[in-house]
Amino acid sequence: VFFGRVVHSKSLKHLEIFNKAALGVDETGIICFLDSTVKSAAAACKKYSGFENAQCTTLKSLEFLFPGMIDTHMHAPQWPNMAIGMEGNLQEWVEGYTDPIEHSYKDTDKARRVYDDMVQKLLENGSTTVAYNSSPHWEATNVLADMCLKYGQRAIIGKLCIDCNATHGNIEKSPEISLEDEWKAVEHIRKIDPDEKLISPCIQPRNGSFVTPPLMAGLGRMSNGEPGSKNIHIQAHMCETLFDIRKMKTVHPGFENYSEMYDHYGFLHEKTILAHCIHLSDRDIELLVERKAGVAHNGNSNTCLTDGECRVRELLNAGVKVGLGTDCSAGYGVSILESMRAASNVSRHLVIHKDDPSLKLNFEEIVFLATMGGAQVCAMDDKIGNFEQGKLFDALVIDVGQKDNINISGWEEDDLALVKKWVFMGDDRSIRKVFVNGKLVAGKDM
Ligand code: GUN
Ligand code: FE
Repeated sequence: VFFGRVVHSKSLKHLEIFNKAALGVDETGIICFLDSTVKSAAAACKKYSGFENAQCTTLKSLEFLFPGMIDTHMHAPQWPNMAIGMEGNLQEWVEGYTDPIEHSYKDTDKARRVYDDMVQKLLENGSTTVAYNSSPHWEATNVLADMCLKYGQRAIIGKLCIDCNATHGNIEKSPEISLEDEWKAVEHIRKIDPDEKLISPCIQPRNGSFVTPPLMAGLGRMSNGEPGSKNIHIQAHMCETLFDIRKMKTVHPGFENYSEMYDHYGFLHEKTILAHCIHLSDRDIELLVERKAGVAHNGNSNTCLTDGECRVRELLNAGVKVGLGTDCSAGYGVSILESMRAASNVSRHLVIHKDDPSLKLNFEEIVFLATMGGAQVCAMDDKIGNFEQGKLFDALVIDVGQKDNINISGWEEDDLALVKKWVFMGDDRSIRKVFVNGKLVAGKDM
């Protein structure tokens, strides 16, 4: 049982903050109650049966519970390239930095070294769930899944599929081999975590410019599974730049809209994550809504590569699911806090360019995108994203009282101000505890 300040999103517009509430988690990690009427942890233990002898934590006056953050788009193999390579556009960056480093993961020992460090760092930074892109190597992808399981991070993981247009050898030998290897990664994840308690498999065509029609068709069939079975997650890039859209049309002639190409291969469903979605047509937006596919908005990355500005307000108004991603290493931010700030700033630049204040994302909205929005995009909003009863306890204990990076002087009694201080000024130094499935997995108090 935790007792103290609790912050979470109920909806896009409603950030619920209790100055004092009790939150109870059972031994399987499920949230049993969130109760703002009780006056202490002890009172909550008395009120709820089964909690009579519960372990109790009373939060300090400048601490609060915040939902675990969800990174809906992150490239694991690009981790060593963080903050490097911002001088070019998307194509120059892919060819100059990304293809060479991804290719280097044919060395599985390198994957072990890099992913061991990366998973721990992302957990310390509060990313309790991450949708990872990997490299075109099933062995390295399996290592990534093993690391997430080892350190207790919730993750969506697949092998990246590339069979044309890539450089530096970052290309698979044939569509058949690419498909076989993707399936090896899916099977490995099903073996190590059969109930998807932490790790879920994912099908990953890099995007329309790097995957030929035969491979797209095979991956689409794979994602849709056997009749009657659940779809497998999909993660891909879409409409990142105008150049990317033109190139997609050379690989997949006959499609007017990017979404129609993906839809043709069966890629658009409720477990689909589409990164960027900047240069969408009206038809694209319509199809994303119809198919319930989600968008990973990576404002930091989109700014670094000068891709453009994702029209998040328009997507939300249309009913598209939107979450946030770091898109390491096109983006330089380790933390989803950085993605929240970028989403806020990108929306403000849209206000400036379009002279339309309604395009601004407000504070409640960026918190929602980082937590509940991400859960929706990952098709996990029945399990995670906020502290509703019955969900799994993926949570952070935040302490805005440490003074290294946050100055809260004068705002100690203002709950909302404390949360804003955390979102705009905080970093891992403020994260005392990180829980996934109710289990302590990282944080300063580990
Ligand atoms: N398009 C194709 N590959 C990539 C990638 O790794 N990152 C981003 N941001 N865009 C891509
Ligand atoms: Fe990306």
